[in-house]
Amino acid sequence: QILILDFGSQYTQLIARRVRELNVYCEIHPFNKIPEITPEIKGVIFSGSPCSVKDEGSPDLDIDQFRGKLPLLAVCYGAQLMAQKYGGAVTPSEIREYGRANLNYIDTHVNLFKEITHGSQVWMSHGDTIKDLPKGFDVIASTPSVKVAAYKVQGEETYGIQFHPEVTHSLEGKNLLRNFVVQTCGCSQDWTSDVFIDISIEELKNKIGDDKVVMGLSGGVDSSVAATLIHRAIGDNLTCVFVDNGLLRKDEFQEVLDSYQHMGLNVIGVDAKQKFYDALAGLSDPEEKRKAIGRAFIEVFDDEAHKLEGVKWLGQGTIYPDVIESVSVNGPSATIKSHHNVGGLPDFMKLKVVEPLNTLFKDGVREVGRALEIPENIVGRHPFPGPGLAIRILGDITPEKVRTLQEVDHIFIQGLKDHGLYDQVWQAGAILLPISSVGVMGDERTYEKVVALRAVASVDGMTADWVHLPYEFLGKISNDIINKVKGVNRVVYDISSKPPATIEWE
Ligand code: XMP
Repeated sequence: QILILDFGSQYTQLIARRVRELNVYCEIHPFNKIPEITPEIKGVIFSGSPCSVKDEGSPDLDIDQFRGKLPLLAVCYGAQLMAQKYGGAVTPSEIREYGRANLNYIDTHVNLFKEITHGSQVWMSHGDTIKDLPKGFDVIASTPSVKVAAYKVQGEETYGIQFHPEVTHSLEGKNLLRNFVVQTCGCSQDWTSDVFIDISIEELKNKIGDDKVVMGLSGGVDSSVAATLIHRAIGDNLTCVFVDNGLLRKDEFQEVLDSYQHMGLNVIGVDAKQKFYDALAGLSDPEEKRKAIGRAFIEVFDDEAHKLEGVKWLGQGTIYPDVIESVSVNGPSATIKSHHNVGGLPDFMKLKVVEPLNTLFKDGVREVGRALEIPENIVGRHPFPGPGLAIRILGDITPEKVRTLQEVDHIFIQGLKDHGLYDQVWQAGAILLPISSVGVMGDERTYEKVVALRAVASVDGMTADWVHLPYEFLGKISNDIINKVKGVNRVVYDISSKPPATIEWE
């Protein structure tokens, strides 16, 4: 495996995903919490950082522990840190070194640049630059404005590169990472979904034994894949609970429940619609709504868990981005997410936690789901927020508003599917606005609700662009909604990106 040491760059997870795409396992650890270096670790990558090596207290570590012992690839800040520590000079760049650049000099004799083409486009993003290299360090690539685009230490497989191979704008970045991970470090490319599944099932069997596990399902891909893996390991000692909170999409509860049963999962469907509507009555503030839904869910789930006997474990669909310790941007302190298995919590939260997907990124979860033959209507599903339609109905929630929005959302989502657009969109949905507007239908004046449609392209939900859906499609959907959904006479399309907007309106 490859060890990635994080100095806080926004691109660190991207490095890990690129390495995983090569079917090589890797882990991200904070630069100041280096794990034990076991023989499985075949190479090390240093990430970039928002900090400058010139700043006092900027991230630092003992590089001698790796140099010459393991292949080392230092990206951006990592490369500058290494150059500075061994006697080179790093200064603020005089010209902007941001965006696309081309490598007009490449030493293709070194392993890292084998078969990389002369003139290859790379992505630069740095405020400092390496002015002079230490003794024994050679320039192995340059752009017209950056002499030390990459360097190698003589006699070692130690490299520094100032551009970002993990970003898709570095057109041969993946080849370069392959050169490092496979050719230089000698990692075998055998970390596939099937291997992951076999290893996970073995581990789950050993860990859980004959104990019983309870798990909440949401209909989303993460919890569904996690449950399927656990089920493969322990069979019907896993009981799943799927709650109808009355805030799901039209017919979704029954459809998903049917899919789960078809997949052989031992699943209890709980109709708790009224409990959630009661908890939400009169609440308009988004955070209040979220809290009320969270509390209601805990009560329902705890009730169900109590009906089961001898349960020792809680299964969860946690994925890798939720557990990677993040390096704080404003200094090298690490923020850690923790579970709070302490008193005062509902009983199910005191159970031991089993999270079989906590080493996978979302795309990896989908691949594993497909390898497990989970139906496409679950694996390819758009993300959907836990609080469901409650945060897409601005203002207070009533069952009638939920029904209206379900109809609107159904026309939009079904339309996306029918026009082959669903899989091109990362997430889509409709929002019921708390205003009415004047319209005319036949000879009648109407005064009815406005709905907004939202469709975004994204990789991880952290940033998002609105999708340029075809006008003809939007026109058809708007007509369908206004003609078919009682109480709606106007449709608008949300053309805001994140940032500065967010994906959801609340
Ligand atoms: P925002 O609106 O913050 O959403 O741009 C980013 C992603 O997170 C989802 N989201 C939620 N998911 N509970 C969830 O489980 C929530 O309270 C919640 N709020 C937003 C949102 O749908 C999008 O995928």
